[in-house]
Amino acid sequence: MNTVHWLSPGDPEQRTGGYLYNARMVEALQSRGVGVVMHSLEGPWPWPGVNPGHGKVLQDIPDGSVVIADGLLWPGLSESDRSFLCQRCSVWVVVHSLLDMEMTPGSPSSVAAIEMEALSQAHGWFATSERTANLVCERLGVESGQYVIPGTFPSRHHEGPQRNHILNVATVTERKGHILLVDALAQISDLDWTLDVVGALDRDVECVQRVRERIEKRGLTERIRLIGELDESGIDGAFASADLLVHTASFEAFGMGLTEALVRGLPVISTPAGALDGLESSAVDIVPSEDLDALVCSLRTVLADRDELKRRTVAAQSLSFPDWPEQAEHLVQVLGIESEGFSIDWLRQREPYDHTARSETLVRRLGQVLGPKPVRLMELATGLGSGTRFVSPRLMNQQHWTLVDHDPRLLARLSQEMDVRLPDLEYQVLEHDIRNLQGLKGHSIDAVLTQALLDLASDEWLVSLADWLTQQRMPFLASLTVDGRVEWTPSDSRDAEVQHAFRTHQTFDRGFGASPGPLAAQRMQQLLLDRGFDVVVEESDWIIPPEDVRMVGAMLDGIAWAASEAASHADVSTNMVSGWYRDRKSSLGTCGLRVGHIDLLAIPKPLVE
Ligand SMILES: C[S@@+](CC[C@H](N)C(=O)[O-])C[C@H]1O[C@@H](n2cnc3c(N)ncnc32)[C@H](O)[C@@H]1O
Repeated sequence: MNTVHWLSPGDPEQRTGGYLYNARMVEALQSRGVGVVMHSLEGPWPWPGVNPGHGKVLQDIPDGSVVIADGLLWPGLSESDRSFLCQRCSVWVVVHSLLDMEMTPGSPSSVAAIEMEALSQAHGWFATSERTANLVCERLGVESGQYVIPGTFPSRHHEGPQRNHILNVATVTERKGHILLVDALAQISDLDWTLDVVGALDRDVECVQRVRERIEKRGLTERIRLIGELDESGIDGAFASADLLVHTASFEAFGMGLTEALVRGLPVISTPAGALDGLESSAVDIVPSEDLDALVCSLRTVLADRDELKRRTVAAQSLSFPDWPEQAEHLVQVLGIESEGFSIDWLRQREPYDHTARSETLVRRLGQVLGPKPVRLMELATGLGSGTRFVSPRLMNQQHWTLVDHDPRLLARLSQEMDVRLPDLEYQVLEHDIRNLQGLKGHSIDAVLTQALLDLASDEWLVSLADWLTQQRMPFLASLTVDGRVEWTPSDSRDAEVQHAFRTHQTFDRGFGASPGPLAAQRMQQLLLDRGFDVVVEESDWIIPPEDVRMVGAMLDGIAWAASEAASHADVSTNMVSGWYRDRKSSLGTCGLRVGHIDLLAIPKPLVE
C-alpha cells in the first residue's frame, strides 16, 4: 500500500485554485491506485502562529511516508515541526504560488527569504506552473525545477457566441483586478454585454465593497453581477452560458479558470498567467496587467464584432489540455512513487493472519472429496502463494499446483518464497489475467482455489467463474473474502461512518469492474447453490491485537485512505475521516481490531459423498 499524506492549510474543500488543485489531484491519484490521506491543519495560514495541534497531526504520519505539504502551509509551520517531519518522512512541497506575490496582511517583510529557506529544508518541491517553477529556481539559485500543471475535465464545447455574456472566475480580492475590469467595461458601455463574477466574496470584504461601489458609480449595476462562489455544477452552468472569459489578475501563477474556459471552447482575454505561457492561439488575447487602455481595446475588438468572437470560439475549440489522470501520472513520476499493484510487503505481512484465520475444516473436507489419488490444483490470484502454502501441507495427496497471477513482479518473488518455505512443492507459475477464464480451459485441473480475491471481483466475473466451475465440475475453495465487518476495540463513535465509507469503497472498480465488495462471498454462495453445488461457509476473521502496532497501523492506513476516497460517494466528510484517523493513530498500541472474512467451499453435487 503506497500511501501519500497531503497536508492542507485548513479545510481541503475550499474552492480556490490551490485547494481545488489539491482535491482534484488527490482524487486522480486515488483513481490511479495511489492511497492518499488528506490532513487538514487549522490556522490563519500562511502565518498561523504556534499551534500545538499541528505537531499532533504530524506525529500521526507513519515513518517513511511520502508527504506533500501545501506551499501556503509549509513556511508557516514551526521550524521544529518541519524538521521533525523531514527526519522521518520524504517531504515534498507543492508550490501553487509565491507568498510575496500573494502578500496577505501581517506577512513579514522577509517572506520570500522565509519561504525559500523552508523550501530548502524539504526533500523536494514541485510547482503548479512553469512560471512559478522558474521563479523558485531563480530564488533558490538552482538550474531547474519540476512542475505539474493542473489537469482539466473533459467538457462539452460551448455552443458559440449568443449574447456577449462575459464571465470572470476569480475570488474578489485586490490582486484579481476587478476594479480595473469594471472601469474597462464602463468605457465600452455603448456595446451590448453583461458580466458575471464568480468567486468567493468573503476573503476581502473591503475589496468587495469597493468593487460594488465602483459598479454603482459607473452605472453598471444592471449589467454586472457578483455571483459569489459556486459548486461544481453551478460553475459548469456559468461556463455554459458565457461567451467570453476575462481575467484581470495583476499576477497569476497559473489560473485554472483559464484552462477550464478554453477546454470548453470559450475564448479568453487575460493578463499574463501561467496557464497561458507558451500557448499560441487566436483564442487567447493576453493584455499587460494593470493596463486599462489595452484591456478596453481588447474587449472592444472582441465584443464589437460577432464574427471575431466566433473565430476565437472556433480557435478555442481546437485546443486540447492534459486531463487529471495524465497529471496524476506525471506527479507519480516526479515523486518517484509507483503504485505497483499489491505490495510485496503487505502480502508478506498479512500471511500469518491469513493462516491463523483460515478454516482447517474446509481444507480437510476438500481433501476427503478429492480422495487419495494424485491431484492437479490451480490457485487463482496467487500473489506470493500464501494460499497454497496453507493448503498444500494439509492435503495428503501427491499434488501438482498451477499458480496463476497477472503480476509478473509477484510471480518472480513467489518462486523465491516457495524455494525457501515449501521447497518440495511441485508447481508451475502461470502469468495470466484471470478476467479471461476461458484462457485457462486447456489446463486439466481437479480443483480450483483462491484466497483474498472474490471481494475484488465484479458480479459479472463471479457469474462467469461460477459457470466455468459448473462446466468443469470442479470443487472450489475460496478463502478470506472480506465481508465488510470491522470491529475496533475500544470503539469510537465515528467507526460506523468510516466503516460505511470503507464498505462503499469496496464496491468500486478494483480491476474487474464495479464489485459486490462485502457481499461477494454471499453472492458466490448463491451462484453456486443455483448451479447445484453443495456449499459450506465459515467465518475466517483476522483478529489483530493492539500489540501488533505495525499491522494495526497498516489496516488503519488502508481503511483511512479507502474511506476518504469513497467519502463523497458515501456522504461522509473527509475531515471526519482524517480526524478519526489521527485519533486512532495516536492510540496505536492500545487499539486492536477484528476484520471479517468468509471461507467458502463448493462441491459439485455428484462429487459429494
Ligand atoms: C489481495 S491479493 C491476494 C494475493 C494472495 N492470494 C494472498 O492471499 O496473499 C489479490 C491478488 O489478485 C491478483 N490479481 C488481481 N487482478 C488480477 C487479474 N485480473 N488476473 C490475475 N490476478 C489478479 C493480484 O496480483 C494479487 O496477487
